[in-house]
Amino acid sequence: MDQNKRPETMERITTPELAESFIAKQIEALKAQIGDKKVLLALSGGVDSSVVAALLIKAVGDQLVCVHVNHGLLRKGEPEQVVRVFREELGANLIYVDAVDRFLDKLAGVSDPETKRKIIGKEFIDVFAEEASKLEGISFLGQGTIYPDILESDGVKAHHNVGGLPEELNFELVEPVKFLYKDEVRVVGKALGLPDSMVYRQPFPGPGLGVRCVGAITRDRLEALREADAIVREEIGKLPETPWQYFCSIPDFQSTGIKYVDGKGQRYMGWAVVIRAVNTVDAVTATVPEIPFDVLCCMRDQIVKIPGINRVLWDISEKPVATIEWE
Ligand code: XMP
Repeated sequence: MDQNKRPETMERITTPELAESFIAKQIEALKAQIGDKKVLLALSGGVDSSVVAALLIKAVGDQLVCVHVNHGLLRKGEPEQVVRVFREELGANLIYVDAVDRFLDKLAGVSDPETKRKIIGKEFIDVFAEEASKLEGISFLGQGTIYPDILESDGVKAHHNVGGLPEELNFELVEPVKFLYKDEVRVVGKALGLPDSMVYRQPFPGPGLGVRCVGAITRDRLEALREADAIVREEIGKLPETPWQYFCSIPDFQSTGIKYVDGKGQRYMGWAVVIRAVNTVDAVTATVPEIPFDVLCCMRDQIVKIPGINRVLWDISEKPVATIEWE
């Protein structure tokens, strides 16, 4: 049997009942595979690794060691949510690594998008490998590989995802959701009791805000982006039908703004935030849904209060010719 082919008899997991039965079977399979050994898992907070973590906690409890690397390019509140949900609510054995300075120092002055991606990917692997080397008795590596990863690549976590793990870490892989499609992973995540904000999280690139803080990343521009992104997610997230992906980018240029001090207008230079919302099926092409003007204005009014920002733009470019991300 091809170890990487979804069994033809496997039913699509579309209901909570089917998810419960999948979970029960996986728990037995994980217990049998892992025995009394230890498993290491890089937990990004994305739906795939979160579901794998929740399954492993149920199956082997504190034989699971999760490592969450905060590279400083996550969205507002994400690292805190990972710690709250996994350590505090699910009782996971979670190592939280604050690697923010390390990543931002390596990225300082680097403006080429692919070089930025490479730095983030390599640094992630180095940090993870360092944490792994401090631990003793690890035999397995948990991975949030899902079926499209197997179909689209050669069985490793999708294309340019930073989640790819060190090959030199010679552990046996544990991949409990590798035959599931994304919608099935979400049904399982819901049945495992993960919060909706994790289960229905929109796609977020591995290099995170790094590819949205266009050009060379600076801490002040990155912080402004993180704040603006939180506003965009909050406001567009309230629409009855949310787009497939919605976020903002912050280009590396400034334009003139005006502020009034003691009734006197003063000119100054500030950054522009670009709102981007797209619909797509497979991210190969994308269209731009209408956003009601009052929602745009509501976001604008909040975003211009962020220090350093004086302009808000709406990107209505489709893919092609534009890509979804700005870098
Ligand atoms: P583009 O910009 O290529 O994006 O139209 C298509 C989809 O891929 C995501 N994306 C990435 N995902 N690492 C990722 O894991 C990356 O480097 C990366 N770049 C783009 C993007 O968010 C969109 O969903």
